[in-house]
Amino acid sequence: MTNLTNRKIVLGITGGIAAYKCAELVRRLKEAGCEVKVVMSESAKHFITPLTMQAVSSEMVSDSLLDPSAEAAMGHIEFAKWADLILVAPATSNTIAKMAAGIADDLLTTLLLATPAKVAIAPAMNQQMYAHPATQANLATLKARDVLIWGPGKGEQACGDVGAGRMLEPHELVALCTATEQPQLLAGKTITITAGPTREPLDPVRFISNHSSGKMGFSLAEAALKLGAHVNLISGPVTIKAPVGVNLINIESAEQLLNESLTYAPLSDAFIGCAAVADYRAANVATQKMKKQGDELTLTLVKNPDVIAAVANLTQNRPYTVGFAAETQNVESYAKGKLKNKNLDMICANDVSQSGLGFNSDHNALTLYWQNEQLALAVNSKTRIALEVIKQLAKQL
Ligand code: PMT
Repeated sequence: MTNLTNRKIVLGITGGIAAYKCAELVRRLKEAGCEVKVVMSESAKHFITPLTMQAVSSEMVSDSLLDPSAEAAMGHIEFAKWADLILVAPATSNTIAKMAAGIADDLLTTLLLATPAKVAIAPAMNQQMYAHPATQANLATLKARDVLIWGPGKGEQACGDVGAGRMLEPHELVALCTATEQPQLLAGKTITITAGPTREPLDPVRFISNHSSGKMGFSLAEAALKLGAHVNLISGPVTIKAPVGVNLINIESAEQLLNESLTYAPLSDAFIGCAAVADYRAANVATQKMKKQGDELTLTLVKNPDVIAAVANLTQNRPYTVGFAAETQNVESYAKGKLKNKNLDMICANDVSQSGLGFNSDHNALTLYWQNEQLALAVNSKTRIALEVIKQLAKQL
């Protein structure tokens, strides 16, 4: 695994002769483990075809802001949020000028305005155009906005001139992508994360469950992978895909979750209980489908084991143990109570009373509590919240 494994890169190709090198660039990024989506400007298509880029990236190439079918598959704002890095290569003087001015007149320049991700450009143009004060002023503007400027290289140019203006080679760009990645704070560490809901059967066709989608736990798993950890992800039934590279263990009930957790936790440096575990299960599971009888049905439920408390109370090979507290009221006091009563090292208080946050949404906000400290993480995508939680965890290991 490289430290580009699972990185999501949007490669924006603009219209310069160096665009022909982009097939090689995509191939190398994919070899390094990245997911790459390609966006092309109109003029880029004169230098390399969308079909070539589709073949090397194994993804549809995007080139239009106004294509309803592309927007239906992944809207441009969603696209902008998907990326960990947008790399514009080759970046022409025209695109650089548009970026400096904040012009959004095609898909790529719109993504560049809409993205919260890191942006890097690999300028490529005639040496005279590169040296022009307008281009230099535009580059200075972008640099001041923390856009990463990679290159250009010096040498003989396609037009016959010699000087600065060549796009860096694909292997140099891949190395620069690698260098911008997260420090491998969790290299050599194993993190076990629980995610999703549990299902507690009532009969062969019915169960008790909850609205957990697994998104928060899966985002934590992805963040831990990014920081170099080996990740065990124990998940209840969800419809989302696990990040490539995790050891996924599927469970259904709380008892299965307990068994798998007690297998993996003692082998781990840290355990994060993000799963929404049913507190109770049916005392008796009917072997046949229960038939409708009368106007009322009384179920007898019995308490489920407390998975995270069992992990936190291991007497041997106890991992650093992080819980979540999903609360609709008295968030701070209930979360602190769980931190203490379950013998946890850290807890992530999740106020799930706010619509659009918590269960089954792409966003969240958490307050992290340790025995004597706390840290609020404001509303953000689960991806970014998860990265912050994992960075905080890494400090403790
Ligand atoms: O999956 P998503 O749709 O992305 O939603 C994310 C989430 C809201 C489910 C997640 O952020 C979250 O808050 N998870 C914890 C949900 C929960 O069960 O909280 P709780 O307060 O009931 O439990 C406290 C802690 O004890 C949790 O770490 C839980 O995993 C654990 N627990 C609870 C009961 C039980 N029997 N065993 C446990 O281990």
